[in-house]
Amino acid sequence: MNTSLKSLTNFWGSSIGKKIVVAVTGAFLVLFLAGHLSGNMLLFIPDHGHAFNEYAYFLHHMLHGAGIWFARIGLLVCFTLHIVGTVQLTRANRAAGQTYEVDGTQRSSGSSKIMIWSGLTILAFVIYHLLHFTIRSGPASDFADPNLYTVTYDGKELHNAYKMVVDGFKVWYVSIFYLIAVTLLCSHLSHGVASIFQTLGLRTSKTESLINIGSKVYTLIIWIGFISIPLSVMVGIIK
Ligand code: HEM
Repeated sequence: MNTSLKSLTNFWGSSIGKKIVVAVTGAFLVLFLAGHLSGNMLLFIPDHGHAFNEYAYFLHHMLHGAGIWFARIGLLVCFTLHIVGTVQLTRANRAAGQTYEVDGTQRSSGSSKIMIWSGLTILAFVIYHLLHFTIRSGPASDFADPNLYTVTYDGKELHNAYKMVVDGFKVWYVSIFYLIAVTLLCSHLSHGVASIFQTLGLRTSKTESLINIGSKVYTLIIWIGFISIPLSVMVGIIK
């Protein structure tokens, strides 16, 4: 085994190394959420989905179609390391008779205790979400049907991602499922975001209150932003 591979294995093998990997991959996932939410806000432009469909088209065609695959591989690596790292840390701590708290110095709060469970629920949600909107193979959906979900702008044919989202959330139990999943995601974030700073040694007595408030505000924006989409479809603001 060469030296750099050996140091990487040793780093991952140590508890602090694994915590740092969990924190850094968590930070990337948190940034992904902000990016995903910003793009999704285009759904609110009253242009029958033109801007949102162009944006989805751009994501699928940037760097001649390779860009989205770089992003997908990056996300997959982050998700995998984040989950495997957390599960291994929890197991090791249980074996040692402790509970794993992402936040090492504070008393464990309600949401830190359910971090592992809210995290695994997010995994189930992401799998459902990929089947629903990316693979488009969900039950009772014909989102992959080009006759129903194609739109033409200036002679250019695009997938009508806007209509897919609207039709998806017109199914009330799908919307309810998203509302619950996003709320659990935010319970995870409400503890996780501040913990990233803690693990990376950035939460000091000087920065603590700013980081705590910032994490809460960030989580609130993510929560309101994501739940506003199914809610707006349900009440007919997005149609
Ligand atoms: C109501 C909220 C949401 C809406 C309307 C939404 C919408 C979408 C749509 C339309 C796509 C497919 C884009 C395309 O292929 O054209 C997508 C992909 C994706 N979304 Fe969401 N999303 C929401 C919430 C979330 C949340 C909370 C997460 C993370 C926990 C998430 C993670 C992803 C991921 C990982 C992809 C796959 C990107 C890809 O590989 O194509 N989404 N979303």
